[in-house]
Amino acid sequence: MQSLEGKKALITGGSRGIGRATAIALAKEGVELGLIARSEESFQSVEKELTALDATFVTAVADVANEQEVQLAVKKIEDKFGAIDILINNAGVGVRGSFLELPTDEWKKVLDTNVMGIVHVTQAALPAMIEKNKGDIVNISSMSGLKGTEGSSAYSASKFAVIGMSESLMQEVRPHNIRVSVLTPSLVETDFTRGRDNHDWNPDKYTQAEDVAEYIVNNLKLEQRTFIKTAAQWATNPF
Ligand SMILES: NC(=O)c1ccc[n+]([C@@H]2O[C@H](COP(=O)([O-])OP(=O)(O)OC[C@H]3O[C@@H](n4cnc5c(N)ncnc54)[C@H](OP(=O)(O)O)[C@@H]3O)[C@@H](O)[C@H]2O)c1
Repeated sequence: MQSLEGKKALITGGSRGIGRATAIALAKEGVELGLIARSEESFQSVEKELTALDATFVTAVADVANEQEVQLAVKKIEDKFGAIDILINNAGVGVRGSFLELPTDEWKKVLDTNVMGIVHVTQAALPAMIEKNKGDIVNISSMSGLKGTEGSSAYSASKFAVIGMSESLMQEVRPHNIRVSVLTPSLVETDFTRGRDNHDWNPDKYTQAEDVAEYIVNNLKLEQRTFIKTAAQWATNPF
């Protein structure tokens, strides 16, 4: 196991849900954090908790779907920390609706956020990681990236794309000592699932964001650099 103390992590969607829980878990390991989300207000709660932990962090407002905003946000974070050691591409949105009835605007929003968002952030942060010849990229897909279900075609398409993109990237950056992992959680208790009509608050059915965060932290601590194996392991749903 390696210590994460002093490493620099960038977490998209770090203000709420899985991203927020991961930020807190990493802060407890002594990791310094750059957090991205779309609104300043959404950072308030995580900022309070990180301050109480005496963590070093910076927040940056950006919509990951917007390439220019992402470039400015990543620059702000790199100006403070230098190259990122751990990039967690977590920001994502869900949408439900039948294939035929879901407006194309909604399709585009989901694909622009969940797929192009990862492209924008990774393209901005990766050059400095390559220069450093070291790092971890963790992409958050979903169980919907392994199996399509009724009413979830756009979301599922985006999450399948995340897995394929991650596997390709993994092979490209392996020579630079950068590990790429892709995680496929099932139902996690966050605003994302709370907003659904059929949410029934069943703790046996929902994983907690803190459990996902713990899983991410434990995997980051592994020294093994057998990238494909790690990604395959993460691509089978651990929950
Ligand atoms: N919850 C689940 O059951 C579940 C299961 C499998 C996979 N996932 C995936 O896990 C990831 C996190 O989900 P979650 O449940 O933690 O969601 P969440 O509670 O809704 O939090 C989403 C986070 O992403 C940020 N965000 C959303 N759109 C963004 C954008 N365009 N640009 C920048 N930041 C953005 C949000 O902040 P702002 O709103 O302020 O931007 C927030 O910090 C997503 O990729 C989701 O698809 C979730």
